[in-house]
Amino acid sequence: MSRIAYVAGQYLMHRQAAVHIEDRGFQFADGVYEVIAVRGGRLVDEERHLVRLRRSLGELRIDPPMAEPALKVVIGEVVRRNGVDTGIVYLQITRGAAPREHAFPKAATPTLVVTARRTKPPDPRLGEDGIAVITIPDIRWQRCDIKSVALIPNVLGKQQAREAGAFEAWQVDRDGEVTEGTSTNAWIVTADGTVVTRAADTAILNGVTRLAILDIIRREGYRLVERPFTVAEAKAAREAFLTSTTADLLPVVRIDGAPVGEGRPGPLGQKLRATYVALAAAA
Ligand code: PDD
Repeated sequence: MSRIAYVAGQYLMHRQAAVHIEDRGFQFADGVYEVIAVRGGRLVDEERHLVRLRRSLGELRIDPPMAEPALKVVIGEVVRRNGVDTGIVYLQITRGAAPREHAFPKAATPTLVVTARRTKPPDPRLGEDGIAVITIPDIRWQRCDIKSVALIPNVLGKQQAREAGAFEAWQVDRDGEVTEGTSTNAWIVTADGTVVTRAADTAILNGVTRLAILDIIRREGYRLVERPFTVAEAKAAREAFLTSTTADLLPVVRIDGAPVGEGRPGPLGQKLRATYVALAAAA
């Protein structure tokens, strides 16, 4: 089956799909995006992704390229045309194409691109064995709550993690507190069994997976505090884990080479992971 992409009003062969060289996404990273998981042919938490998308667009004053019901049709159609059962949808909206000038163009039509591809489900070994993270300074801007396509610090951070043999890099603010991973949210479980994750301030992206895990924690009645935590606290934690659309929930068993707890996935993270994976499968 050949891959199909939706680009500015048309369904095109993926390899022929293109945007204009003066698209502001290309020139200024003037755009936003979403990554939505597909499980069993269905979109996981589509509503929450669309709420966040609307918010990101609003914060950047980019007009929605179409009404939400129509957007849902396009997303569904791209999933269908690509025969995606397990995979991801990638959606990007930019301010559009215009002669290069920093200020907003007077007339530009926002560019909408939607692609979908099959992916293997996250490697179960990562969930069973856990993963390593390193910590790096957070060099990003002060509006990380907006899902902007300007991801250079995240790209550099993830590469640094890879070169260190780690899965992710946890970014640390000037107060020594962890903000989030380069493409994931960060969590710990303290010695007294309290789950801690940073509140959704402007220093982090409010992950859709984060919200789903918070729902589970509240429903199950686990102790929870939304507050920042330091690297030292994370290293001394009983458990740690990260969450995202593509990673689900993965236990963090090493931070900067030092074991977290006993250096094995902890029970609370494993329970949350199992509950979340089942929930996403039934989406
Ligand atoms: N990343 N924090 C950052 C900086 C992210 O880029 C992401 C998502 C998350 C987790 O959000 P969610 O649970 O909604 O996926 C947190 C996506 C997957 C990406 O860029 O590929």
